[in-house]
Order: sequence, then C-alpha cells, then structure tokens
Amino acid sequence: PLVLHVLGARPNFVKAAPVVRALDELGVRQGIVHTGQHYDALMSDVFFADLGLPEPIANLGVGSGSHARQTAALLTGLEDVVLEHRPSLVVVYGDVNSTLAAILVCAKLHVPTAHVEAGLRSFDREMPEEVNRVVTDALSDIVFATSPEALSHLAREGVDPERVHLVGNPMIDSLFSALPKLDPAPVQERLGIPGRYAVATLHRPANVDDPESARELVDAVLAVAERVPVVVPLHPRGRQRLADAGLVNRENLTIVDPLGYVDFLSLVRGAALVVTDSGGVQEETTMLGVPCLTVRPNTERPITVTHGTNRLVTPAGLPAAADKALADGSTTPSGELPPLWDGAAGPRIARVIAAWLRGDNLSP
Ligand code: UD1
Ligand code: UDP
Repeated sequence: PLVLHVLGARPNFVKAAPVVRALDELGVRQGIVHTGQHYDALMSDVFFADLGLPEPIANLGVGSGSHARQTAALLTGLEDVVLEHRPSLVVVYGDVNSTLAAILVCAKLHVPTAHVEAGLRSFDREMPEEVNRVVTDALSDIVFATSPEALSHLAREGVDPERVHLVGNPMIDSLFSALPKLDPAPVQERLGIPGRYAVATLHRPANVDDPESARELVDAVLAVAERVPVVVPLHPRGRQRLADAGLVNRENLTIVDPLGYVDFLSLVRGAALVVTDSGGVQEETTMLGVPCLTVRPNTERPITVTHGTNRLVTPAGLPAAADKALADGSTTPSGELPPLWDGAAGPRIARVIAAWLRGDNLSP
C-alpha cells in the first residue's frame, strides 16, 4: 500500500513533517505530492530543509490565481497524480485550497482520505479557509482532531464519530523537535533587531486585501512600533498593499522577507510580544508562552485563548492591548497546555493509519 500526502502551502509542511517521520518509522510506503501552491524558496524549500521532509515525488507547479482558477488547476493536476499512483490513502492537512482540491479529487475517484487538523471552526464563512474546512471534514474517511472542541463541531455537522480520532497537534510536534535549535540571538544580529522586540505577521485576506483595512492595520502596527521595536517577516500576499498603507522600514520597524521555520520560531521565542493574523502562530505562541495578539474578529483556535497566551484584538484595540501585554509579560491564564499538545501527535496519527492499512477495526 502507498500513502500520499498532498501539501501545498507553508503551514502544510509544518503539520506533515511529524506524520511522515512517524509513518517512516512504521515502515509505511509513502510519498509527498507538492501542489506548488506556494513556490518561493522562502515559502517552500526552506521548510523541506528545516523540517527534514523528503523530496516530493511530484510537484504540480500550480502557483497562484483566483480561488476558482487555482482550485481548478489543483483539481486537474491532482486527478492525474492520483490516477497515476493509485494510493491506498491520501492524507491532507489544514484548510488551504490544496487540501480542498485533494479531498474533492479523491472523493470522486473513490480513493480513501484522512484529514489532519479536522473540526476547527471560526464560524465565519467569509474566510476561504472555513469553507475548505467544512467541505474537507465532510468528505474525509479518517478525521484527525487536534483539540477537543473539534469533536462537538464535527458531531454537529453529522460527521460519524467512528471516523474521528482526537490525536493532538502535529504542528506542536514540529515545534518540540525544533526547540533545541531555537536561538534568537543570531537571527537578531543578522536582521539588526535589538534586545527587546515584537514580531508581527500579517496575511489574512480580510486584513491585507482591502486598502482601507490595510491602512487601519498598518496604523495599529505603527502604534505598537512606538512602544517596542517591531520586526515583520512579511508574507508575499498584500506586501504591496501594506507598503502603500505605510508599512515600510523606519525607526523601530523592520520589514523582512518571510523567514525559514527555525529562524522564525527563534525570533518568536525571544519576542516580548507577537502580533499576528496567522492560525499556526496562535498555537506556537501558546506553546512557547509568548503573549500573542491576534488581529481578527474570530479564531478557529479558541483553545489558544482559553489555555494559552492568545487574545483577539481589533486594529483600534491593538495599541492598548500591546501596552498591557508588554507590561504583564505572559498572558497565560492557567499555565496548562491544551490536552495532547505533547509532541506525540505524529506517532498517534501514524498508528491509526497503519492500523487502517492493515484493515483493523478503527473505532476509537
Ligand atoms: C494560503 C492559504 C491560507 C494560509 C496561507 C499560509 C488558501 C485559500 N489560503 O494563503 O489559509 O494561511 O496560505 O501562508 O489556501 N505568493 C507568492 N509566492 C508564493 C506563494 C504566494 O508570491 O510562494 C503570493 C501570490 O501573489 C499569491 C498570493 O501570495 O497570489 C496568495 O497566495 P495563495 O497561495 O493563493 O494564498 P495565501 O494568501 O498564501
Ligand atoms: N512561519 C515561518 N516563517 C514566517 C512566518 C511563519 O516559518 O516568516 C511559520 C510559522 O511558524 C508556522 C507557519 O509558518 O509554523 C504558519 O504559516 P502561516 O502563518 O503562513 O499560515 P496559517 O497558519 O495562518 O495558515
């Protein structure tokens, strides 16, 4: 039997690495299909190197486009690959367009699928990822949940509990593996970042695609930069729009290209504060105990607020929230990490997959 992992975007690589490693240890034959949704070296290659992922067996080179065009290219490219390799199982990750396309292709070709990071919901269907999550969970044969609240979301949508396995968070496995390598000092030195600093990442369409939203957000980030030097490893999406809105290098504000995984987490680990609209970064800051202000009206990861260091803020509320976080240090309410965020999600997922490949009864 062959297991194929369909990966396309930066967060996919981080979530897949521990699963691929654990399946390898169980001797399962597997391959990575890279859709090419992310293609810049700093959005893709650097993650394969940092995470020790094997070379993809195929790269579809799909690239960027509108949702319809990108998804259409993903569908046709993935159909060919799945027909060529005839996998026993296709594993998909998270909520990106590559994930949605792989699930649709496999459902129509009757190829079994597993979804890692199932059941997260922002309940905001204007977010493209929310649409991808709902469809992916509805069509997956094996459903891997990272945190307990996912179970009730899946049950409410009629996902058979027999398909659902609560396994913990493989993104946190990757973070555990990277911990010994995380050292802010060399990255600070290379980028010219002083001792106390904040890190900001911004790429959500709702924040960066519209000039008015971009301006509000940039004004808020500039206000934070008056309090503490801010470094922004900037996603290519919206780079121009944010620059037009005033997000350019200036005193206390350093804009840099996206960073590799180890460099980025090194900076986060040493930061006094993180400002973000990323999904994964909310989880990583919770794990590292670094205060995180998420500039979004909602989160599909509320456990990072209840168990972690995360707070949702509006752009207008960001400066005051930053003052408070910088004064208080960590904003952890309980000091307890979410359940099963223990670095062993990859092996749990691999055991379920290996049992499924053997034809064992999988009732959790
Ligand atoms: C995608 C995911 C999002 C995830 C993010 C992680 C979807 C719908 N969205 O958003 O959930 O949080 O990845 O980073 O799948 N671009 C480059 N180089 C690249 C990749 C993209 O310049 O290597 C630019 C292009 O201008 C492109 C834009 O970024 O149009 C958006 O890329 P795309 O993959 O469509 O979506 P993301 O915003 O990256
Ligand atoms: N990340 C990175 N370099 C950066 C920004 C983010 O390595 O410059 C990592 C981050 O640590 C996390 C993942 O990329 O593991 C999150 O990806 P992103 O924020 O693009 O996507 P999201 O999680 O919002 O879908």
